[in-house]
Amino acid sequence: MNPIILIGGGGHCISCIDVIEKTGLYQIVGILDLPEKIGQKVLDYSIIGTDKEIERFTPECSDFLITVGQIKSAELREKIVNKVKAAGGKLPVIISSLSYVSKHAIIEEGTIVMHHALVNAGATIGKGCIINSKALIEHEASIGNYCHISTGAIINGQSNISDYCFIGSNTVVANNTNVTLNSIIAAGSQVLKNIEVSGTYIGHPLRKIR
Ligand SMILES: CC(C)(COP(=O)(O)OP(=O)(O)OC[C@H]1O[C@@H](n2cnc3c(N)ncnc32)[C@H](O)[C@@H]1OP(=O)(O)O)[C@@H](O)C(=O)NCCC(=O)NCCS
Repeated sequence: MNPIILIGGGGHCISCIDVIEKTGLYQIVGILDLPEKIGQKVLDYSIIGTDKEIERFTPECSDFLITVGQIKSAELREKIVNKVKAAGGKLPVIISSLSYVSKHAIIEEGTIVMHHALVNAGATIGKGCIINSKALIEHEASIGNYCHISTGAIINGQSNISDYCFIGSNTVVANNTNVTLNSIIAAGSQVLKNIEVSGTYIGHPLRKIR
């Protein structure tokens, strides 16, 4: 098993741990979080340092997963990815053994596909994304970099979700629909038309709240 270090010890980390353990491919060395949390545990794993000391760990462990969550901004996740790369670390793609990923799909570094997610043929997913439990990425849909497709969200065929988007739990994006970068779509929304202006959108019919 390859050693791996997780960065971010909150709720999303707990779900990621279960996905990683179930793959049987990685041994989790520990978690990096805030200085005041060092010594605390997340499930069976200790918080062993902060993201300021990634270089200290790379000689023994080159694989990292960003386990900080993402709703209103992807900034922190992207910042940490850049720190890992600057320190010579790598960001493997993690795929739950309980998910289905078509052999005709492309997924870039640092993305996690969680339990019971389905990524269908011709789909492309950028780097640093979270494809959360039970999400569906349909045929030929494309997801940009640093997107979080939340639990149970459905991205239908040939839709495009641009970089830095959050698609809330149980939201449906209709087929052939584009969502522009930096869009936040609330849980349970229905996106039936292109979103061309970045912002926060809610509900059905969809309305922009900011
Ligand atoms: C989009 C979101 C981040 C906005 O959060 P926010 O900026 O804090 O917004 P607020 O909670 O202040 O809500 C603003 C307004 O939208 C309404 N609203 C919020 N979420 C809503 C939803 N999902 N559907 C319909 N209306 C909603 C609120 O009632 C409020 O209405 P008001 O102005 O009339 O009082 C949040 O609604 C959301 O969906 N969070 C993600 C939930 C989720 O999918 N979690 C999964 C994590 S894995």
